[in-house]
Amino acid sequence: QGGSVVKILVIGTGYVGTTTSLIFCEKGHQVTGLDLDDRKIQALTSGKLHFYEPGLEELLTKHITNKNISFTTDTETAIKENDVIFICVGTPMGKEGSADLTFVKNVAESIGRYMNRYKVVVTKSTVPVGTAEKVTNWIIKNQPTPISFDVVSNPEFLREGSALYDALYPDRIVIGTTSEKARTIMEELYKDFQCPVVQTNPKASEMIKYAANSFLAMKISYINELARLCDRLGINVNDVSKGIGLDHRIGPLFLRAGMGYGGSCFPKDVNALLQTAKENGQLLSILDSVVKVNASQPLYFMEKIQQALGGDLQGKTIAVLGLSFKANTDDTRESPSLIIIENLLGDQVTVRAHDPVVHLDNSPLSEVVQQFETVAETVSGTDAVILCTDWEDYKSLNWGELKPLMKQPYIFDGRNMLDKREVESLGFHYIGIANH
Ligand code: UGA
Repeated sequence: QGGSVVKILVIGTGYVGTTTSLIFCEKGHQVTGLDLDDRKIQALTSGKLHFYEPGLEELLTKHITNKNISFTTDTETAIKENDVIFICVGTPMGKEGSADLTFVKNVAESIGRYMNRYKVVVTKSTVPVGTAEKVTNWIIKNQPTPISFDVVSNPEFLREGSALYDALYPDRIVIGTTSEKARTIMEELYKDFQCPVVQTNPKASEMIKYAANSFLAMKISYINELARLCDRLGINVNDVSKGIGLDHRIGPLFLRAGMGYGGSCFPKDVNALLQTAKENGQLLSILDSVVKVNASQPLYFMEKIQQALGGDLQGKTIAVLGLSFKANTDDTRESPSLIIIENLLGDQVTVRAHDPVVHLDNSPLSEVVQQFETVAETVSGTDAVILCTDWEDYKSLNWGELKPLMKQPYIFDGRNMLDKREVESLGFHYIGIANH
């Protein structure tokens, strides 16, 4: 059928917006990226990403050169010239844990105000059940004259750090709409993706996103709590993860015990789903526990650190390796590492920090934490090292060379990254999360 080029507008140029834009370029569509932040638009226009995400900048340069993508801050023109509009703005945690829809509302109002012909308006941002309906009303309220349009829920499942791969090769695509016309346009957009498409209504589609993230968060809290029992029993939790993960009904992913999940999605989305449940008079007791386990996991690890170092940490110097909430991202939102640092500072510890991409320069933490360029500098003169982020760099460190630099040979591995026997044979005291 040749495939017609669809003119797409993506509003919001963060992780989701930028990645979405570029994968549609890869599939031969024409994309405009819109953001109110002039600095972001200037950076993107000159081929620079304003966040760290492997592989994305190369793709950006390619599609700028090929003129498949352009960026603008001109809302009115962008809305008028495009037929499919993706809303990819942030939905931060608002009051009482529910998602704050201010940005989505602003965008919907602009779409209504400037609409000149039929549009498909797609919400890709993670939005609570019922938002498609709200978006519809915000648009109608702001239309100078009635023009038909459809709102589609099309959630995104990409992960920071592997955004490109996840978006190009998704496990599934979810399209929530009751309009045949919009469905046909969405199918055309996604026709070159090799994965099942789940067709449903907007509400179910919105629920799928929260249910997926909450389920994954639940897997992590499940293994983390189990790890505490494994610690008491001297069982290696990694073996347990492997042993249960090989059952296809369970699956191996998101069963890595650690310091708890962080980032901008799981903590926010689990809370938002709990809030939706509360508003509708339904208790989600399992998810309630998921949040509790996650909140106490870094503290559990802190206790292990305190115990091993003789109780009182006052006056000690400790190296923290890794600041981002996981590897391959510069995102520190809800990072367990920051909770550990906060606790160490509270215990009067001198904290020396390292991260391959995160720089504390402009954060208030830079006043109380010293950051170093190399791991060797960071661990020098310390009583212990705490591994907080699962960066690949940290898996291949030469511990034999690092040990003589340290005052005391303690390694606390919050990600179960190291081979316990190997570092113990070098004379280290090693403590992980039920990594026996
Ligand atoms: C998550 C989901 O995985 C994506 O599918 C979803 O699209 C995204 O949220 C979103 O809603 O936008 P992300 O937050 O980027 O993606 O990061 P994940 O890779 O899911 O990791 C979340 C946290 O769980 C990290 O702190 C990670 O270290 C932790 N984790 C992950 C574990 O502690 N154990 C594991 O086994 C896996």
